[in-house]
Amino acid sequence: MLAGKNILLIIGGGIAAYKVLELIRLLGKDGAQVVPVMTRAAKEFVTPLSVSALAGAPVRSDLFDLEEEAEMGHIQLTRAADLVVVAPATADIMAKMANGLANDMASTLLLASNKPVLLAPAMNVAMWENAANKRNVAILEQDGKLFVGPENGEMACGEFGTGRMAEPEAIRAAIQAALVDGPMKGKRVLITSGPTHEPIDPVRYIANRSSGLQGSEIARAFVRLGAEVVFITGPASATRPVGAQVIEVETARDMAAAVKVAGEVDTAIFAAAVADWRVSRASDDKLKKAAGKALPELDLVENPDILATVSQLEAGRPKLVVGFAAETENLVKNAIAKRLRKGCDWIVANDVGGERAVMGGQDNQVVLITEDGAEPWPWMSKREVAQKLALRVSEALV
Ligand code: CTP
Repeated sequence: MLAGKNILLIIGGGIAAYKVLELIRLLGKDGAQVVPVMTRAAKEFVTPLSVSALAGAPVRSDLFDLEEEAEMGHIQLTRAADLVVVAPATADIMAKMANGLANDMASTLLLASNKPVLLAPAMNVAMWENAANKRNVAILEQDGKLFVGPENGEMACGEFGTGRMAEPEAIRAAIQAALVDGPMKGKRVLITSGPTHEPIDPVRYIANRSSGLQGSEIARAFVRLGAEVVFITGPASATRPVGAQVIEVETARDMAAAVKVAGEVDTAIFAAAVADWRVSRASDDKLKKAAGKALPELDLVENPDILATVSQLEAGRPKLVVGFAAETENLVKNAIAKRLRKGCDWIVANDVGGERAVMGGQDNQVVLITEDGAEPWPWMSKREVAQKLALRVSEALV
């Protein structure tokens, strides 16, 4: 499956390094050529002899070793690779990467690389959750680095929590996903996301609590599956998906226009929480209060319904149109009616009125409404909802 692929494997100094021996064995079985690099600390955990014997290639570790450099320079190593994998990716390696440091072989290769990089973090739970590490992870995600794990469970140090390195099988699957064409390759996906802001005057606006996280995660999931993604977002707080074409808009009317300009797509997912109404004539000047002056009256008019417009297109309608339904009561009944009223194929319904905050939160519990009925999904992270939805869409499009 990975025949002919060249994987530059950087082994960091952590107890999980022993699991990398199994990973090298699996990749070898898949036909990949593994070029191993070890940090000085990694050699304290596994021997270079075991690594090079399994990889069938010498271990590189010293930037200043003339013999190693004469054979193949470190820049060439990164150019020859199809993918760079860092396992275990320690807090130290990630901190160096996030800040662009290059003071040993591993960090220099990572800075010099122009290839995709997959990180398999491994560290103690308190280190994983440390604010500095979280900042570094956010920067690396923003830079487009791929992640597999860490997982939740018991650690070598005896503590319990998130920080355990993903199992070799999971890292192998992530490597395959990064190197082999995904099921959405050649497909174009449009996603709307976030809230819209409807101006009242130059300083005030009507908005809602959407963070845009669910939409961003859906975009990331489709990018991972190999799709070409057009991501149209209102002023959301969530970080924008790397690898997608990002179009920033403010109002519902801007969003409708951007959707029109985006042109034909295979599927469109309308995750945005679009404001239903806008102020008919926003004031050019700030509305002032003054003694004896009447309260301002906001005359509301309805915004264009983007989902309904696209669902009912006569020409160029996407093969699959997916809407969202934010409800606070009669979730399934209202969502079924909404699907029919708007004319979309599927509705992802979520209860935004419950005790657990969905809007602005990390998790979601949805019901997928299709022509076959209502399918409740359990509570999961918005990332998992996105992944499951993207896979379902890719299956429906074949
Ligand atoms: N939507 C849209 N354009 C609008 C309003 C909503 O594209 N002007 C889309 C949303 O992106 C979502 C779906 O329609 O996919 C349903 O949004 P929701 O707010 O749940 O429904 P509404 O149409 O606003 O209906 P109601 O307020 O009556 O529940």
